[in-house]
Amino acid sequence: MSEPIIEAIKVTREFSGKRGRVKAIENFSLKIYPGDFIVIYGPSGAGKTTALNLLAGMDRPTSGEIILFRRNVKDLSEEDLAKIRREKIGFIFQFFNLINNLTVLENVIIPLLPTDRSETDMIARAEELLSELKLIGKKNRFPTELSGGEQQRVAVARALITDPEVIMADEPVAQLDEKSAEIVISLLLRANREGKTIILATANQALVNKLKQNISKIITLERGKIVSEETPKARKHSKQK
Ligand SMILES: Nc1ncnc2c1ncn2[C@@H]1O[C@H](COP(=O)(O)OP(=O)(O)O)[C@@H](O)[C@H]1O
Ligand SMILES: [Mg+2]
Repeated sequence: MSEPIIEAIKVTREFSGKRGRVKAIENFSLKIYPGDFIVIYGPSGAGKTTALNLLAGMDRPTSGEIILFRRNVKDLSEEDLAKIRREKIGFIFQFFNLINNLTVLENVIIPLLPTDRSETDMIARAEELLSELKLIGKKNRFPTELSGGEQQRVAVARALITDPEVIMADEPVAQLDEKSAEIVISLLLRANREGKTIILATANQALVNKLKQNISKIITLERGKIVSEETPKARKHSKQK
């Protein structure tokens, strides 16, 4: 059996809120293997975004361990974590996080800037993704000139441009019309078929049902706790053996 690429071991993340400490995630354990399609499902406030941020090394647990590509987040500096994220993880944020004074094309290219690719190469790759996402006509526009669905698709292109091993998507279709949602979902499914690991957080039961036969594990969260775990599809790594 292959080793997990990302692992959470009894992770708790507390925040101090208006009414004292809140455990956004409590005693959360999960092993993610190469090629998995993991869904973190639960209502708003359940802790999905907190869990994704922890699994991506963007946040640190209050207690418990996060192991990212065999290294304990505890032993890693912010710089180390930034490097791992840059090289291995594409993150689609719930609220896009686009840079408003850069064009669509420039936003998509950002993650490639620290690499040694040529500008021609970067633009070609960005244009290819923008075409797939039906956004090529908007490449010179600014994010504020786009609809919510279009901005979300730009965020998807930006997450995919480095061809990351792991794609984390926080409510990637929540703001999208049906057609845009289809495009994004089929891109994620294709990436998974090509061997990428996907971790998707959603509050949308219909989306979970639709993805079901492609999902290796569904974690249901309620008030920070895992209340159920389902494995609709046998894990790829165990099937290969
Ligand atoms: N930075 C923060 N500061 C204080 N409380 C937070 C913070 N982030 C999340 N929380 C709280 O943690 C809980 C889980 O939030 P979140 O992970 O965003 O849930 P979800 O993504 O499932 O909607 C909520 O009660 C939320 O208010
Ligand atoms: Mg959220």
